[in-house]
Amino acid sequence: MGAHGDIRTAPRALATEAVHAGRDDLARQGLHAPPIDLSTTYPSYDSRGEAARIDAFAATGAEPDGPPVYGRLGNPTVARFETALARLEGTEAAVAFASGMAALTAVLLVRASMGLRHVVAVRPLYGCSDHLLTAGLLGSEVTWTDPAGITDALRPDTGLVMVESPANPTLAEVDLRAVAHACGSVPLLVDNTFATPVLQRPAEQGARLVLHSATKYLGGHGDVLAGVVACDEEFAGRLRQVRFATGGVLHPLAGYLLLRGLSTLPVRVRAASATAAELARRLTADPRTVRVHYPRIGGAMVSFEVHGDPHEVIAGVRLITPAVSLGSVDTLIQHPASISHRIVDTEDRRDAGVSDRLLRMSVGLEDVEDLWSDLDAALGQRPSRGAGNRANDHTEPAPAR
Ligand SMILES: Cc1ncc(COP(=O)(O)O)c(C=O)c1O
Repeated sequence: MGAHGDIRTAPRALATEAVHAGRDDLARQGLHAPPIDLSTTYPSYDSRGEAARIDAFAATGAEPDGPPVYGRLGNPTVARFETALARLEGTEAAVAFASGMAALTAVLLVRASMGLRHVVAVRPLYGCSDHLLTAGLLGSEVTWTDPAGITDALRPDTGLVMVESPANPTLAEVDLRAVAHACGSVPLLVDNTFATPVLQRPAEQGARLVLHSATKYLGGHGDVLAGVVACDEEFAGRLRQVRFATGGVLHPLAGYLLLRGLSTLPVRVRAASATAAELARRLTADPRTVRVHYPRIGGAMVSFEVHGDPHEVIAGVRLITPAVSLGSVDTLIQHPASISHRIVDTEDRRDAGVSDRLLRMSVGLEDVEDLWSDLDAALGQRPSRGAGNRANDHTEPAPAR
């Protein structure tokens, strides 16, 4: 745990950590809001000492003791966010990156640098994560399987098992404890972007790596692009070394905004989840939908398949924002087959349950009735009685797997 998280060691509830972790030293410094350190470099008259700190970083990747050295090695404002996120996920450390994709890239490079280039992954994943693995851009090779096939898919050079739960965009859930067991000694990476630590803490269920597109709920306001990996200190050291070598660092202003975002994370996620559950219920009862996906663990994401043209729904919203991304204070809707999962091969996408009729909605903090009236209008005419289009073949919100 970094310098900002170890003043109180007694366990604290998530809501308390959300507003205090990473800030425990502030009051003693006479500060309330965390300072933003924009320095790219740090003067030192002791170059022998600095050399020793650089050597120590090269050996273990541990955050350098004493004054920072250079922005790519670490930044005090970003470190506050890392400390706080690690506390929320219940891990020893966290390492922040310029985006979620930069975070995943760093994980793959850590394993590839150890000669472990094979990845076992479960679809669906976010479209770009799928693409990064499928295209082998980083020299990795992927075996796609379902959760039951993980053990059989492992090879001596398997460096990582990757799952998303709830998954983007179908909200399919996997039994993380069972999957972690199936991985044996191979690290399991769980993308926890959709659940957030408010609803699910994968490290407690055996995941070694917990990844977030912090662009989403952690930032929470649609104005920060960021990624983070929560993990043990040993893996964090390797991630910091890769981050230093490849440069995908998080800007300190983004680190500040993320720390601020974390303080309202539990409140935002719970409020948006209550609205999402109600919208899922109404959509499920609505004859204009074929199927509604809503996770067992809850959350603020709802996906649904429509009888009509999904593009017309996107074109019809007025209050809801038709845009990719998720996790903001306002409600967003998008068509995965056209946007977020466009880059995935059509057959692979359909096999993963991403139908062309599927819409993915990220529910925000607006009033539920206002959201429903916008959705109701965008869904268009209800089928007339006896028109043979009454089929809602799926009468309860449920995950696809
Ligand atoms: C589940 C999930 N993981 C990772 C990413 C990639 O994150 P970023 O856009 O911050 O690079 C996304 C982006 O949508 C996502 O939805």
